[in-house]
Amino acid sequence: MAAKRHPCILVFVCLILSLGPNHGAFCTAEAQSFVYSGFNGADIILDGVAMVRPNGLLQLTNISDVRGYAFHRDPLLFLEYPNGVARSFSISLVFGIQSEFIESSVDGMTFFVAAGKNFSGTFSGGFLGLFNDSTDGSPDNHIFAVEVDTFKNGEFMDMDSNHIGIDINSLFSIQAHTAGFYDDTTGLFTNLTLNNGEPMQLWVEYDAQTTHVNSTLAPLGVAKPRKPLFSTTTNLSDVLKDPSYVGLSGSTGPVNTQYYVLGWSFAMDGPAPAINITNLPKLPHGHRKKARSKVLEVVLPISTAVFIALVGTGIFLIARRRLRYAELLDDWEVEFGPHRFSYKDLYHATEGFKDKRLLGAGGFGKVYKGVLSTSKLEVAVKKVPHESGQGMKEFITEVASIGRLRHRYLVQLLGYCRHKDELILVYEYMPNGSLDKYLHCEEDKPTLDWTQRFGIIKGVACGLFYLHEKWEKIVIHRDIKASNVLLDREMNGHLGDFGLSRLYDHGTDLQTTHVVGTMGYLAPELLCMGKASPLTDVFAFGAFLLEVACGKRPIRQDSQGKQIMLVDWVLENWQNGSLMQTMDKRLQGNYDNDEANMVLKLGLLCLHPFPTSRPAMRQVIEYFDGDTSLPVLAPTHFNVNMVSMMQSREFIPVIISYPDITTSIGTFSDLSGGR
Ligand SMILES: Nc1ncnc2c1ncn2[C@@H]1O[C@H](COP(=O)(O)OP(=O)(O)OP(=O)(O)O)[C@@H](O)[C@H]1O
Ligand SMILES: *[C@@H]1O[C@H](CO)[C@@H](O)[C@H](O)[C@H]1NC(C)=O
Ligand SMILES: *[C@@H]1O[C@H](CO)[C@@H](O)[C@H](O)[C@H]1NC(C)=O
Ligand SMILES: *[C@@H]1O[C@H](CO)[C@@H](O)[C@H](O)[C@H]1NC(C)=O
Ligand SMILES: *[C@@H]1O[C@H](CO)[C@@H](O)[C@H](O)[C@H]1NC(C)=O
Ligand SMILES: *[C@@H]1O[C@H](CO)[C@@H](O)[C@H](O)[C@H]1NC(C)=O
Ligand SMILES: *[C@@H]1O[C@H](CO)[C@@H](O)[C@H](O)[C@H]1NC(C)=O
Ligand SMILES: *[C@@H]1O[C@H](CO)[C@@H](O)[C@H](O)[C@H]1NC(C)=O
Ligand SMILES: [Mg+2]
Repeated sequence: MAAKRHPCILVFVCLILSLGPNHGAFCTAEAQSFVYSGFNGADIILDGVAMVRPNGLLQLTNISDVRGYAFHRDPLLFLEYPNGVARSFSISLVFGIQSEFIESSVDGMTFFVAAGKNFSGTFSGGFLGLFNDSTDGSPDNHIFAVEVDTFKNGEFMDMDSNHIGIDINSLFSIQAHTAGFYDDTTGLFTNLTLNNGEPMQLWVEYDAQTTHVNSTLAPLGVAKPRKPLFSTTTNLSDVLKDPSYVGLSGSTGPVNTQYYVLGWSFAMDGPAPAINITNLPKLPHGHRKKARSKVLEVVLPISTAVFIALVGTGIFLIARRRLRYAELLDDWEVEFGPHRFSYKDLYHATEGFKDKRLLGAGGFGKVYKGVLSTSKLEVAVKKVPHESGQGMKEFITEVASIGRLRHRYLVQLLGYCRHKDELILVYEYMPNGSLDKYLHCEEDKPTLDWTQRFGIIKGVACGLFYLHEKWEKIVIHRDIKASNVLLDREMNGHLGDFGLSRLYDHGTDLQTTHVVGTMGYLAPELLCMGKASPLTDVFAFGAFLLEVACGKRPIRQDSQGKQIMLVDWVLENWQNGSLMQTMDKRLQGNYDNDEANMVLKLGLLCLHPFPTSRPAMRQVIEYFDGDTSLPVLAPTHFNVNMVSMMQSREFIPVIISYPDITTSIGTFSDLSGGR
C-alpha cells in the first residue's frame, strides 16, 4: 500500500524528538488541532482531482471515475510514548454531496488517518480512493477511515446506499449505520439523505481509554445531537502508525458526483474545535429541493403534524414508485433476477473496461476479461451495443433464460447487465481462448493434435445436441464456428456465444425473418428464406468439422482472390479418391484414420444442401459413440439438382441483401454440375 511510505527524514526527526522529554512538541505543536471554515489559505495538500474553488469550497471530485484527496499538511503523532497506545482525537466535518442523478451518487467520501499520503495505487469507485483490490483488507494499510458512503457495494457487504461506516484497513466496515440522527428532544431517529445536496455535519471521536469511536451526523445548523448515530469499539493502537496524516478522500464511480467539504476541524486529545458555520462557503446551486432540511430545522419543533403529513406523503410516494418499479421489472426481476449484474461490479471487474483487459472483438462487440471482486471468479464480459427499445426486453428475456442453460460443453452465461445503450453479457472465462486461434495460426506454430481436436469436436457435438433436444426449449445456436468454440484449461471445447440465438418453444413454427450467422457456415435454405432450424445449425457444424479436420477456413481466397469453398475442395478430393489428402498438414499424418475419415465424411453429410438429408445432432452423437455407423456414402450422394430447388423458392430478395449469396449458390450449382 502506498500509504506505508512516508518521508524518512520526518520519521527520523520525530523519533529523535519522541525519545526526548518534549515528546511530540516539535512535530505536532502547532498541528495538535486545526479548524478550517472554508479552505482558502488552508494548510492542506491536494491530490487527485481535488481543488479549492474560489469561494473556498473544497471540491474532492468533479467527474465520474475519479479520486480526490486533501491532507492536512503536517503529519501528526497518534501514539503515546513509550507505550504505543493510540491517543484520543476528534474531528468535525461539514460536507455536501451533489450528483447528476438524484437517485444515485457513486461512490463516497471518507475522513481517514493514514501512514502516508501517496495513494497512487488505489482505485476510485467503491474502493473510495483508499485501497485497491489487492490491498483491501491488508493490515499493512494502517488506515482508519470513516466512510460517508452513498452507494451499496455488494462486494463490501454495504448495508445500503446511504450510510456512515467505520473502516479499519478494509472497505468491509467494522460497523455502519444508515445516515440520520437522534433528535435531542424527542429521542426519535430521523433519516438523512446524504446526497440531498444540502450541507450536513459529521463528528467523529475516538476515546483512548475506552477505545470507543462515536460518529454523529446532523443537518448543518442543527446542534450536535447528544446521542451519537452509532458507537463502536476498536483499539486503534494496533492500526495506526506514527506519524500519520489526516486526510479526506472523495471517489466517484460511473456517476458524476461532487463531494464537497465546506469546513473541517481536528484536535488531538480533546474535542474538535467548532466550525464557525456563519461564514462557510456556499454549495453551488443544485437543482434540488430544500424541503427536507428546512422542515427539520424550522418546522419540526413548531408543527409535528406537518412533518408527519410530509412523511406520510413521502411514504405514499415511495410506495407508489415501488409499485410502478415492480410492474416494470416484474417478470424479469423474479425469474432472472439472480442473473443481473450491477454495472459497477462489472466496471470494477474489468478495471473500467480497460484496453489491456480486451480479449477480442467480434461482430457484436468487444469482450473483456474480468475478475469479480467478491468471488474472485474470472469472467469474460461482452459489451454489445444495443438500443434500448422494442427488442431489448425480448432479448434480455432470452438471454436470461439461456442463463439457466447449463452443460459441460457450453460456455456458461452467468448473467447480464444493462447500461445505457449497451447490453453486457457475462460468461465464464475460458483460459485458452477461442479455437480459431489454434487452427489458423502460422504454419510453424504448434497446433492441436488430433486427439485434442477429436475431443473438441465431440464436446461441441454434445453441447449442440443438448441445445437442440435436451433442454426444455429448442435452442438454435445460429452462429456455430471455430471462434465461438472456447477452450478451457484442459483444452476441452465449449460452445459459446448464444447472443445470436433465438428460442422457440417445442412444436411451434421455426420461421424467422432475420438471417444471422457468418458466411461459410450459413445453410443455403437460411440464405434463401431466412429459415433457421436445428438443421441449419447442423450445416454450420458440418462446416466446423471440416475446418477442424483440414485446418482451413470454410471460405478462403486463392492467390487470384477467387473464393474457394472448403466443402467443394473436400468433395472434389473425395470424388478423386484422395479424401485423406485434405487433412491438416500440420498434423503430419498423426491421426486415427477411422476417426479422421468419419469426421470428414460426417462434415460433408452435415453440409448437404438439402436439410432433410442432413443428420440430426442425435444421430451425429450416435455416430461418434459408434452406436450407429455412418451411412455408406458415395460421392454422388451430393449430386442433387440444386436448380430445381432454387426455382421453387423465393430467394431473389435475399440476394439483394446478401451479396455473398452468389458464391454460395454457385457452389451448390457446381455440385449438381458434377453429375
Ligand atoms: N468466455 C470467453 N473466455 C475467453 N475468451 C473469450 C470468451 N468469449 C470470447 N472470448 C474471446 O473474445 C474474442 C471475441 O469474441 P466475440 O464473440 O466477440 O467474437 P467472435 O466469436 O469472433 O464473433 P461473433 O461476434 O460472431 O461471436 C474471441 O475470439 C475470444 O478470443
Ligand atoms: C495496489 O496498491 C499497491 C500498493 O500501492 C501497488 O503495489 C499495487 O500495484 C496496486 N495494485 C493494482 C492492481 O493497482
Ligand atoms: C476535474 O478536475 C481536474 C483536476 O482539477 C481537471 O483537470 C478537469 O478538467 C476537471 N474536469 C471538469 C469536467 O471540471
Ligand atoms: C507514489 O508511489 C508510486 C509507487 O507506488 C511512485 O511511482 C510515485 O512516484 C509516488 N508518488 C509520489 C508523489 O511520491
Ligand atoms: C430510514 O431509512 C431506512 C433505510 O432506508 C428505512 O428502513 C427506515 O424505515 C427509514 N426510517 C424512517 C423513519 O424514515
Ligand atoms: C460516545 O457516546 C456515548 C454515548 O453513547 C458517551 O457516553 C461517550 O462519552 C461518547 N464518547 C465520546 C468520546 O464522545
Ligand atoms: C489497546 O492496545 C494497546 C496495545 O495493544 C494496549 O496497550 C491498550 O491497553 C489497549 N487499550 C485498551 C483500552 O484495551
Ligand atoms: C463567526 O464568524 C462571523 C463572521 O466572520 C463572526 O461575526 C462571528 O463572531 C463568528 N462566530 C464565532 C462563534 O466565532
Ligand atoms: Mg463469439
